[in-house]
Amino acid sequence: MVKCRKATVSDVDRIISKIQSGSFSLDLLPLDPLQAQNLDEEEMAKFVESEYSPSLSKAVDDGRLLVSEESGGLTGYSLSHSKGEGRWVISALDVDTGLHKAGIGSGLAEKTLEHLRDKGGRMAEVSPAAGVHKFWEKMGFRPMKKGKRLERRL
Ligand SMILES: CC(C)(COP(=O)(O)OP(=O)(O)OC[C@H]1O[C@@H](n2cnc3c(N)ncnc32)[C@H](O)[C@@H]1OP(=O)(O)O)[C@@H](O)C(=O)NCCC(=O)NCCS
Repeated sequence: MVKCRKATVSDVDRIISKIQSGSFSLDLLPLDPLQAQNLDEEEMAKFVESEYSPSLSKAVDDGRLLVSEESGGLTGYSLSHSKGEGRWVISALDVDTGLHKAGIGSGLAEKTLEHLRDKGGRMAEVSPAAGVHKFWEKMGFRPMKKGKRLERRL
């Protein structure tokens, strides 16, 4: 069973250092692909620290950041935000690159859905990263009528 919990302030630094060391993905950062392409390594590191880190800290305060862990080490995290009227967006769900396909992502996704349900959510949506459609379909998500997003009832 995947051990998940709400993130604390000290988890934010742990997540950031795992992004910077390549264990967590850079692809989930809120950057458009063109912007991402134009940033060199140093600028990307600066973006992660100055922009992503505060948004993760804010999510800790709001209870929107969950982490999974094993033997005291972080194995993954999920970040969500509300669109209002019971609709939530899972904006990031990431598992340590060395630990893929071991059930951590689905465990963390289940816990995230449960958490959003507990927060009064009724629908969840995701914008699947390239090649991850199947994963979300396995989690019960289906295409929305418009656009490329997937959704499911909570
Ligand atoms: C997507 C991700 C979270 C999946 O995590 P994981 O721990 O590898 O997933 P699981 O082991 O729980 O897999 C659950 C099921 O989805 C399938 N699956 C996992 N990743 C998949 C992928 N990239 N493509 C297709 N199927 C995938 C698994 O094979 C498994 O199927 P099974 O139950 O039939 O064996 C992980 O690959 C990841 O962190 N990717 C980088 C970040 C990312 O793209 N996140 C999604 C943002 S939209």
